[in-house]
Amino acid sequence: MYLGIDLGTSGVKVLLMDGAQRVLGSAQAGLAVSHPHPGWAEQDPADWITATEAALRDLARQSGADLAAVRAIGLSGQMHGSVALDGSDRVLRKAILWNDGRAQDQARRLDARPEFRAISGNIVFPGFTAPKLVWMAEHEPHLFAAVAKVLLPKDYLRLWLTGEHVAEMSDAAGTSWLDTGNRRWSPELLAASGMRPDQMPRLVEGNAPSGTLRPELARRWGMGAGVIVAGGAGDNAATAVGAGTVQPGQGFLSLGTSGVLFAATAQYQPRPDSAVHVFCHALPGMWHAMGVILAAAAALDWLAGVTGTTAAALAEAPGPTLRPPGEITFLPYLSGERTPHNDAALRGQFLGLSIGSTRAEMAQAVMEGVAFAFADNLQALRMAGSDPKALLAFGGGASSDYWLKAIATALDLPILVPEGQHLGAAFGAARLGLMAETGASVAEICQSPAIAAEIHPDAALRDAFAERHSLFQSLSR
Ligand code: XUL
Repeated sequence: MYLGIDLGTSGVKVLLMDGAQRVLGSAQAGLAVSHPHPGWAEQDPADWITATEAALRDLARQSGADLAAVRAIGLSGQMHGSVALDGSDRVLRKAILWNDGRAQDQARRLDARPEFRAISGNIVFPGFTAPKLVWMAEHEPHLFAAVAKVLLPKDYLRLWLTGEHVAEMSDAAGTSWLDTGNRRWSPELLAASGMRPDQMPRLVEGNAPSGTLRPELARRWGMGAGVIVAGGAGDNAATAVGAGTVQPGQGFLSLGTSGVLFAATAQYQPRPDSAVHVFCHALPGMWHAMGVILAAAAALDWLAGVTGTTAAALAEAPGPTLRPPGEITFLPYLSGERTPHNDAALRGQFLGLSIGSTRAEMAQAVMEGVAFAFADNLQALRMAGSDPKALLAFGGGASSDYWLKAIATALDLPILVPEGQHLGAAFGAARLGLMAETGASVAEICQSPAIAAEIHPDAALRDAFAERHSLFQSLSR
């Protein structure tokens, strides 16, 4: 048996599968994000542990879920968050998350130094890890002085699970400290942001072992001795491993809290000026390109929150048939934007509201706005040399048919809905656990899923969507 643990932004998901990759059970526990100032986003790492324990308890109660037979665990997690630890592994402050824009100034200063784009292959975005530590040095010098290690969110879970400080390549590539082409920490980039190599965890590949489960936890969960914890992956690379997106030309979109358009690449081909992220894949000798929208499903969640309903109800509100864009246009930049704008200060907008505007029309505009943001990301990905011909769809928002139809039409690409679409990153993490324990090859394990439905662009609405996309782009500049 193999256990996948995905530390998301809105919750922790655990999934159990057997050696033939049959999913035997899964469970989730929710997480809250605090926004102590506009544009900030924090979580307490202690809550990640509490949620993981709660989800595991729930999983253990399910019939067929035999935790005693677990041989390996794979980890996946929200990327870029900074967990700063002192010399006794105590958390120094709340984790600053991937969608936190406070380090805008610090990011701009680092990004102005040519070595960052040259070595890391990426813009230094405010949500990445390095500028957050510079922010700490400038605003919380007493805490910064005590930093002995900096871990990414899922690597903090690993520390709790194994007692070891370890990171893996796909997540490490999102720190701005990795030499992404050579898959090692860059002493030069660390020094340029006031950090030392000894503050970094050891690096492994995602499908390699990183340690073993602490006996105390193994006993508590009824597991045997020597359970391997694999390197794992950042949540997007983990989703790719689960989706079998491991060959050039393959791609997926993730409609989670963030929106991601992801393409696998066999070479390291950075194109930082396009604001496309180029990171190591979670598998040796592979990289990937992706565009990132900071508020995707989060935009509909936000509208649901302020109008007192649920995102699922809003997604159904326009009805089953795709409509042409109406009088309202929505810009989804509620947390600033990464691709293609690289501007943490951008903000969301509703335009064209009238006295008769309804909640359903606003929901439709939000889904279209996110679809147009995906279309901008596709243009950026093409500039960076990836040109997927169809996209698998994952993430909570992908359970809305209406939203997927809007995206297919805005992108003019077929969207493939996989069977077991809900499996996502936790399934990819479990696959990495399986590979780490058995040494099985990528080709053997990382098969593409069966397709449950194909959603094609609506030919009758393609022009209306293209026209609204041009308006969206002119408003976004
Ligand atoms: C990727 C990114 C987000 C988070 C979401 O660069 O910031 O997709 O990984 O969990």
